[in-house]
Amino acid sequence: MIRLEALSKVYQMGDVKVKALWDVNINIEEGDFFAVIGPSGSGKSTLMNIIGCLDVPTYGKYWLNGREVSHLSDNQLVVIRNRDIGFVFQSFNLMPRLTALDNVMRPLIYRGMGYRERLRCARQALERVGLEDRMDHRPTQLSGGEQQRVAIARAIAGDPAIILADEPTGNLDSSSGQAVMAIMQELNAQRKTLVLITHDPEAAKQASRWISLLDGRVNKEGKKVLA
Ligand SMILES: Nc1ncnc2c1ncn2[C@@H]1O[C@H](COP(=O)(O)OP(=O)(O)O)[C@@H](O)[C@H]1O
Ligand SMILES: [Mg+2]
Repeated sequence: MIRLEALSKVYQMGDVKVKALWDVNINIEEGDFFAVIGPSGSGKSTLMNIIGCLDVPTYGKYWLNGREVSHLSDNQLVVIRNRDIGFVFQSFNLMPRLTALDNVMRPLIYRGMGYRERLRCARQALERVGLEDRMDHRPTQLSGGEQQRVAIARAIAGDPAIILADEPTGNLDSSSGQAVMAIMQELNAQRKTLVLITHDPEAAKQASRWISLLDGRVNKEGKKVLA
């Protein structure tokens, strides 16, 4: 479903080249729960941005659902992103003036849905994350854990095949973080492909497969050890 081959991302900063990713090879199958761990600056977000079609690699190839997307234009990438990928970020990225319901409904416009359909999908998504009684709240009226659950509802409302989460528990206390991870597990159990970026080895243990990045390279990889 996601295949990266000899993928590199190099940023040019004045005279200096920063190898944010170097020669990364990854295969993620449909239904995988794939974790990416590594210290700050190791290239995790750069990898997520490329997998999520927010950015393109400098070298190497990226196949998504059998189609090579490494060379596509911004307009083509937007279409893929809106249809196939749901994003969850560390800082929630909710729109402060909109209610939880409107935050979840808004991106569905780009999937060409009418109002009633958007309302139905958004309500259903908020129910799935246990926020049916918070739909009319604005982000400031919600706890951090609730805001992240709204963000997850927004990510899943359009029913994308892939969910990308970049440090989704990074700004949460441990019990809210566990609630968020429980939702992630549940989504994966429903066959969503999940890519979780984290520097928390405990969160990564819940994944079926993991890699660790160091200085832009894959330095270790493994599978969940079943007890
Ligand atoms: N837009 C950019 N321009 C220049 N350098 C960048 C940019 N984005 C990231 N980098 C550099 O690439 C490396 C990897 O960054 P990042 O992917 O954000 O790491 P992580 O998410 O693991 O903390 C870092 O050295 C960072 O400074
Ligand atoms: Mg990061």
